[in-house]
Amino acid sequence: LLIGCRTAVNDLLFIIDGSWSVGYEDFDTAKNWLINVTSGFDIGPSYTQAAVIQYSDAPRLEIPFGQYWTNQELISAIKNIKYLGGNTQTGRAIKFGTEEVFPTSQRANTAKNRIAIVITDGKSQDFVIDPSEAARAQNIILFAVGVGSEITESELIAIANKPSSTYVLFAEDYTTIEKIREAMQQKLCEESVCPTRIPVASRDEKGFELMVGLKIKQKAQKIAGSLMSETAYMLTSVTDFVENTSHRDVFPEGLPTSYVFVATLRLNPPTIKEAFDLWRILSRSGIVQVAVTLDGKQKAVTFTTNSIKADLQKVTFRNSGLQKLFNEEWHQLKLLVMAKKVTLFLDDVQIQNLGLRSKDSVPCRSCLKQLVLLGSTCTVHIEIQKLRLYCDPQQSERETACEIY
Ligand SMILES: *[C@@H]1O[C@H](CO)[C@@H](O)[C@H](O)[C@H]1NC(C)=O
Ligand SMILES: *[C@@H]1O[C@H](CO)[C@@H](O)[C@H](O)[C@H]1NC(C)=O
Repeated sequence: LLIGCRTAVNDLLFIIDGSWSVGYEDFDTAKNWLINVTSGFDIGPSYTQAAVIQYSDAPRLEIPFGQYWTNQELISAIKNIKYLGGNTQTGRAIKFGTEEVFPTSQRANTAKNRIAIVITDGKSQDFVIDPSEAARAQNIILFAVGVGSEITESELIAIANKPSSTYVLFAEDYTTIEKIREAMQQKLCEESVCPTRIPVASRDEKGFELMVGLKIKQKAQKIAGSLMSETAYMLTSVTDFVENTSHRDVFPEGLPTSYVFVATLRLNPPTIKEAFDLWRILSRSGIVQVAVTLDGKQKAVTFTTNSIKADLQKVTFRNSGLQKLFNEEWHQLKLLVMAKKVTLFLDDVQIQNLGLRSKDSVPCRSCLKQLVLLGSTCTVHIEIQKLRLYCDPQQSERETACEIY
């Protein structure tokens, strides 16, 4: 199956605050949160391995890398961590992680991502900048999670990678830390499966530029786009847009749980009356894993995705607001895909919101084989200007249809 995060090859280090200010009860909550966050990943020799450091005055290695090879074993080990108590020497703990814990991973050379998550409830009593930069110099990605009102935002920013909007998370207190679990999992997921960046406005968004991945620029004829400043490409039946997903630019590790699919396109006759897949991914054996199907006859858009029980689920958007997609003019189609729902937008107008059964599933890196654009019939004739997949669901708000006149 498709969702890549569960089987990402991560070395994940949690650096948790065990100082006196946390207290016994909240420390238990922090442990439960850790358990919940790791539940989104398969723990195993070829998938994610997790380690835990608890720190106060000195760091203590609670769980080394490679000690537990199932989620269940890891959960028991986290439950057994005993609260330390003491001061808050966060910098020292980060340094310990970089120098003593990551290097002991048996897969130091094979783990794709080395990620540390620093959880703190207050201001550190030592310096965090140098140890954090030293960690980054070792290609360790640092997230900072601040809990409660005693935290110093500038310190979290100094610890975390840039941009801080991505790498710093806040919770009001430990009782509400559950609220940022999904955000944490999604961010770890993006970090694991979205290696490429798309330059958008002044920021680099994690995602996949499918025009590049499908080599559309090389294969299709260049034409005028929706505005004078835009160029587009004409696709015809003679062009083959199948590409292998093992390529770096097209989901080598699968898709994140949540993402935004954006296409700016113009449908021409006879395509306005046909059903075709605008985009789809097939498994090695040719089974659809995910697809966006446009149906000109029904004036509908269908989203297909694999789900938890390995059966496909399809949801179809059919709404009067969707009819103009088939009117031979330029439009921006946007699908915001979340764990349990999918929302369709046309030219920034929300058309419909449909439920999905939870699709966070057992994935499989190697089963992804092809990425296909075009339909079952070979007569698809469309003009395409943008085809992207953003890994951050919040990009849905930033990605406006300003290219549509
Ligand atoms: C962990 O997940 C369980 C079950 O979903 C939930 O009841 C609990 O509040 C979560 N705890 C934390 C601290 O995230
Ligand atoms: C995909 O890769 C396989 C080998 O792994 C190769 O035989 C096939 O031609 C490739 N297909 C495309 C469209 O590149």
